Amino acid sequence: MARNRESSRDLYDRALSVMPGGVNSSVRATQPYPTFVRKGDGAHVIDHDGNRYLDYVMGYGPLLLGHDMPERVSAAVQRAASEGPMYGAPTEVEVDLAEFVVRHVPSVEMVRFVNSGTEATVSAVRLARGYTGRNKIVVMQGGYHGAQESTLVEGDPDHPRPSTSGIPPAFARETLPVPFNDERALREVFEAHGDDIACVLTEPILGNTGIVAPETGYHETIRELCDDHGALYVLDEVITGFRVGGPGCAQGKLGVTPDLTTFGKIVGGGFPVGAIGGRAEVVEEFSPSGDVFQSGTFSGHPVTMAAGLATLRYCAENDVYGHVNDLGERLREGLAEVVADREPGYTVVGTDSMFKLIFSRSDAPTQDDPCSGGCTQDPSCARYAACPKTGGDVDDAETQRWERLFRPFMEEQGILLPANQFESQFVSYAHTEADVEETLEAYKAFFE
Ligand SMILES: Cc1ncc(COP(=O)(O)O)c(C=O)c1O
Repeated sequence: MARNRESSRDLYDRALSVMPGGVNSSVRATQPYPTFVRKGDGAHVIDHDGNRYLDYVMGYGPLLLGHDMPERVSAAVQRAASEGPMYGAPTEVEVDLAEFVVRHVPSVEMVRFVNSGTEATVSAVRLARGYTGRNKIVVMQGGYHGAQESTLVEGDPDHPRPSTSGIPPAFARETLPVPFNDERALREVFEAHGDDIACVLTEPILGNTGIVAPETGYHETIRELCDDHGALYVLDEVITGFRVGGPGCAQGKLGVTPDLTTFGKIVGGGFPVGAIGGRAEVVEEFSPSGDVFQSGTFSGHPVTMAAGLATLRYCAENDVYGHVNDLGERLREGLAEVVADREPGYTVVGTDSMFKLIFSRSDAPTQDDPCSGGCTQDPSCARYAACPKTGGDVDDAETQRWERLFRPFMEEQGILLPANQFESQFVSYAHTEADVEETLEAYKAFFE
């Protein structure tokens, strides 16, 4: 029998008359109407009709520990809130969290906290432009850096255009989108515009486009081209920061050293946050030490800082990364087994505690011996030629089947997934092996 979701429908009805599209972030408007969450419980959420769902949305990434704050995190949050929500003056906890980030992420010598990942990437782009005195930025087609003017751009370097209305085409002309994993395109864009490029801004892995892993050497090429042309290499670790690669972040795992890194999500322990970190010489260009204006009423908010610090310390002192990464691996391996006979064209992607099954359209030759634990762009893998390498490859996949049939099916099974196949799924410290087995059974049932 179908779950009763009447309260969610009624709430959506009310929301539609007072909020555009009934939501405060577009991706939440799932079909036919969103599940309105009443509360979280470990790895689960409970909706307004009392339905319980195993959750892989996890707030779109911030909730590495799941929905329940450990006692210490909760105590730190309560204390910060009870002492007065915020001051507009510096506090000790900002320094503590900045020191934690600097200690664990070798490329980061200084950090400025802001309130969202979007604000972080907006500020990083402004900083790169101010520092270099140049205007153009290179981004990846299908990459995502939040709802900001400089990166909501599609097309190619010769024909960049805004990807949404409301952005002047003249802004888009300063952005050069290239395909991820395409070294040749990168070299060409530097040959044509090298003296005008302020930075390359990219995620370490495309985390908002089905999770696309970089080819070996791709980030090194970005680093080298930036150095050769006096541009900055800006790594957007809003999703991957303090998740992929543990406290050293994805850059540690990949072994690359960006000039600037943007953070968000986990570094605020579930509260609104963003941060820009990097070489001191560059970050000090921010006002008031430098000439690039940057400011914010809520920046370094004490409750967020307390939550972020307590969360990161908890992760460092417990086997959080071991647990979530093991479960992530089990999910990816299990999914590869599920689709081996049923949908051999589909691709399992992800790393650490991120996972996804892409409904690829390609006639992938075989599922025999795929990269163990998710696509790693291994040229010796039998599926190498067929696995997604760019945002376009994911775009070409069976998005409608995913969105209209698969996601609602999973919801009915009591498993909550993001709105579309582009968004990553996240394992938290609260997930268990039993949850993973239940999840694999539900995937299996869809393809039966
Ligand atoms: C890589 C990346 N950068 C930036 C952002 C924007 O962050 P926020 O939604 O906090 O503004 C996101 C959000 O998902 C992201 O994944």
